[in-house]
Amino acid sequence: MLRAGLATRGMDAATKFRILKRHLAAVLRHATPRKLLNLVKTERNMRRKAEVLDSFPYILKIESTNICNLHCAFCYDNRRQPSEGERGYGRMQPAHFRHVVDQLAPYLFKINMYGFGEPFLFPEGFEMIRYATDRNIGVGVSSNMNIKDDLLAEKIIDSGLEVLIFSCHGVTPESYATFMGKGNMELALENIRRLVALKKARNRSTPVIDWQFCVTGFNENEIPLAEQQARELGVDQVRFIKPFFPKDAPAQWWSSKFPRNLDDQAADVEPDCSWLYRSAFVNFDGGISPCCSDVRPLANDFGNALTQPFAEIWNGPAYRAARRLLKNPHAADAQAARVCQRCPLIVNARKQAQ
Ligand SMILES: C[S@@+](CC[C@H](N)C(=O)[O-])C[C@H]1O[C@@H](n2cnc3c(N)ncnc32)[C@H](O)[C@@H]1O
Ligand code: SF4
Ligand code: SF4
Repeated sequence: MLRAGLATRGMDAATKFRILKRHLAAVLRHATPRKLLNLVKTERNMRRKAEVLDSFPYILKIESTNICNLHCAFCYDNRRQPSEGERGYGRMQPAHFRHVVDQLAPYLFKINMYGFGEPFLFPEGFEMIRYATDRNIGVGVSSNMNIKDDLLAEKIIDSGLEVLIFSCHGVTPESYATFMGKGNMELALENIRRLVALKKARNRSTPVIDWQFCVTGFNENEIPLAEQQARELGVDQVRFIKPFFPKDAPAQWWSSKFPRNLDDQAADVEPDCSWLYRSAFVNFDGGISPCCSDVRPLANDFGNALTQPFAEIWNGPAYRAARRLLKNPHAADAQAARVCQRCPLIVNARKQAQ
C-alpha cells in the first residue's frame, strides 16, 4: 500500500535518499549564517511549542494568483464564485510580491510560489521567480503546464526556477480528462519535452522536474505506464500521491492503494504543526493564512502583509492563540486561533484528551 502524507512516504530507500540529498543540497545552496541561526531558533521554538517567536519562517508559500485555466474535478473549491466575506480571484502585483519577499528574504531558503491557481498563467509570475532567485531564495512552482507559449521553456529556465512540480494525473486522455477536465495532456507533455530538451541544451540541472500524479481508482492501473513515461520524458522523478477528496466523493475516485480514511493519522494529545513555526501562506491579496487550509473566508486571515509588518502578524493575537492550542487544545480563547481551532489536528487532540 502507498502511504499518504510526506512526499517520500511509500518510496523505496534509494529514491528517499535521492530526494533527501536534493533537499539538503538546496538548503546548503541558499544558506547564510543568519538563515542557519534562524533555522536553529525555529526548530527550537517548535520543539518547545513556544508561543512568541524570536524566529521567522524559513519557507514561504506565496500564491501569485488563484486564477486558473483548468477546472480539475476536486481542486479546492471547484472554481466556484466567492460568497459574501470570501476572497475573490485575482493576481498579486509584483510590487506587493517584492514587499513581502523583502521583509523575509534574510531568513528564506525557499518560496513555494503557488496556491490555488496556475502560476504560469501571467507574465509577472516569471518576474517574481527571478526576483526571489536573485535574493538567494530557491523557488518552486506547481503547474499544470497547459500553457500555449512557444517561449515557455525559455522563460522558465531564464527565471531561475529551482523546482517544477508538474501536475499530471493520468497518462491516457480518458483518465487525464476525468481528473483535469478540459486540460490538454498533449500540450502539457510537449511543454515538458521542450523544457527537458532546453535544460539539456544549456547543460542545466534546474528546474528539477517533479511529476506529481494523484492516484485515484480510475488511474491506479496506469502507475507502471506513468513510470515508463517519466523515463521517456526525462523528468527527474515521478511521485504518486494520495489526493484529498470530500468524504462523499464517488467510489471510483478512491484508490485501493491508499487507506481511504483520511482521519487515520493517530491523534496526539499535544498536536504538532510545523506551519505555525516554519512557514506561512501568503494569499494573492497579501492576506496571511497559517497554512493552505480554508483560505477563502477573509475572517480566517491572521493579518495582511501589505498593510502590517509581517513581524507584527507573526507574533500577533491569532498566531499566539493558534500556538497555544498546540500546547493545550482546550485553551479558552480558541476562537482567536480562527481556522486552527477547527483543524482536525486540534479537534482530534481534544477528543483524545477527553
Ligand atoms: C491547487 S494546485 C495549484 C497549482 C497548479 N495549478 C497545479 O495544478 O499544479 C496545487 C497542487 O495541488 C495538487 N492537487 C490538485 N488536486 C488535488 C487533490 N484533489 N488533492 C491533492 N492535491 C491536489 C496539484 O497537483 C498541485 O500540485
Ligand atoms: S490546475 Fe491546479 S489550480 Fe487549476 S483547477 Fe487543477 S489543481 Fe486546481
Ligand atoms: S489549520 Fe491546522 S495545519 Fe493549518 S496551521 Fe492551523 S493547526 Fe496547523
